Amino acid sequence: MRILLIIFLFLVSCEKLEEVFVEEDLLQRPQAKRCADCHAQIYEEWKESRHYRAWKSENFRRESENYGKVKCLSCHAPHQVDPEKKPVLRAEFREDGVHCVACHFKEETRSMHGPLKVWSPPHPSTQDLDYTKSEFCAGCHRETYKEWKLAKVRKSCQDCHMPSLGKKDLIQKFPFYLFHLAKRRTSHRFPAQKAKPEDIEVHLKGKELILVNVGVPHNLPTADQGDPKLYLIAQILYGDGKKRTLRKLLSPQSKTALQYRVPYHLRIPDGDVKEVRVKIMRKFAWSDEKETLKELTLRTPSP
Ligand code: HEC
Ligand code: HEC
Ligand code: HEC
Ligand code: HEC
Ligand code: HEC
Repeated sequence: MRILLIIFLFLVSCEKLEEVFVEEDLLQRPQAKRCADCHAQIYEEWKESRHYRAWKSENFRRESENYGKVKCLSCHAPHQVDPEKKPVLRAEFREDGVHCVACHFKEETRSMHGPLKVWSPPHPSTQDLDYTKSEFCAGCHRETYKEWKLAKVRKSCQDCHMPSLGKKDLIQKFPFYLFHLAKRRTSHRFPAQKAKPEDIEVHLKGKELILVNVGVPHNLPTADQGDPKLYLIAQILYGDGKKRTLRKLLSPQSKTALQYRVPYHLRIPDGDVKEVRVKIMRKFAWSDEKETLKELTLRTPSP
């Protein structure tokens, strides 16, 4: 027993201890799958995210002309992510899209960088608080980042799109997890989230319908390249019983997305308006499915 203790203390005091456990291939830009050997849960989350699909996406393949448009490729298969910098295209495993190595491995230190202070014998790690800031996402989500900056809110991209999962193990592999306490974990599904009905205010004022995005601190919807859409459908009922339907597309590509807290005005054709039934539907860039975001009926006050 005592011999074992002495050997253990010797090992702990030995400066080379960490190097003994380093798994060298982790520092040679492996596929994301390799990280799953230990970070199994984070890997499963990431596989459900759009970052995992960034290269394989059928829309992307088509619109980049089968990967022929070189200027399109770097953000969809980046080499290394640095705050506010547009990444360069990586050479290996492009089908992994925006993957673990791109976001966490830095050539300068040859170590993983992340938000926590950890002891990680298989690969060196460096704590780096830039990971908790919106600037980290800005090199690729450029337009959205500019919009967010104008909104002047405290919540970061991560607060909403990498929500906290509470304390959990970072690793699932035996025996490593026995030596580590559960730590703050954030969702690597990068959920797009869904605006809530109360995030959009709708008013009827004179001959105008007014919409205000009061809840989402960037354009609604927002995009750099994708084409997400909101559909506004207003059914107007006039005093004489006539009906009219107005349809308006609100999207980044048509420059009609709802800016944060900037009212959007829609003129209603003349007449004695009695009531307006408003329906707002949403479609994400990567999906054909339309969902109802909000429905309400506004009435003109009787004189
Ligand atoms: C290397 C470039 C890059 C970085 C850095 C990056 N993203 Fe992305 N992100 C993308 C690409 C490309 C897509 C679109 C993938 C697809 O659908 O084809 C995307 C998609 C998303 C989506 C899904 C959007 C939708 O329409 O559903 C969210 C949410 C998201 N990213 C959040 C973040 C957050 C938060 C950060 C910072 C922590 C971040 N991203 C950092 C490139 C990046
Ligand atoms: C500066 C980084 C960057 C570059 C360069 C870039 N994209 Fe993207 N792309 C993104 C981000 C971030 C998203 C996530 C949603 C959004 O903001 O549009 C995205 C999303 C998309 C989507 C929607 C998601 C999907 O898979 O359906 C398509 C399509 C797309 N990009 C095509 C292109 C094409 C085509 C080019 C070249 C003309 C290009 N991208 C260049 C960052 C970039
Ligand atoms: C053989 C096991 C193993 C493999 C494989 C592994 N890691 Fe780790 N990793 C660890 C351990 C152990 C920790 C520390 C866990 C703790 O403190 O709870 C860690 C922590 C981390 C952290 C947190 C760093 C911080 O400062 O916040 C990041 C990021 C990370 N690993 C990225 C990766 C990436 C990317 C890969 C794939 C290239 C990978 N790891 C593969 C064992 C592994
Ligand atoms: C788009 C960039 C991006 C990708 C891709 C990505 N991460 Fe992260 N990761 C982050 C950011 C940003 C944080 C810090 C979030 C925070 O603390 O607000 C983080 C945090 C972590 C942490 C610390 C614990 C936690 O959950 O916050 C670990 C460990 C980690 N990532 C491992 C991985 C592994 C393994 C993969 C691949 C399966 C991966 N990451 C893919 C950006 C990324
Ligand atoms: C207060 C929470 C919040 C913050 C902060 C936030 N977002 Fe969002 N974001 C949302 C919500 C809610 C949606 C869903 C909108 C919808 O229903 O279409 C969304 C949607 C998105 C989408 C998908 C495209 C769309 O609009 O449908 C992307 C990409 C995105 N956000 C990126 C970012 C980035 C990058 C940042 C930081 C610069 C950020 N978000 C900050 C709440 C937030």
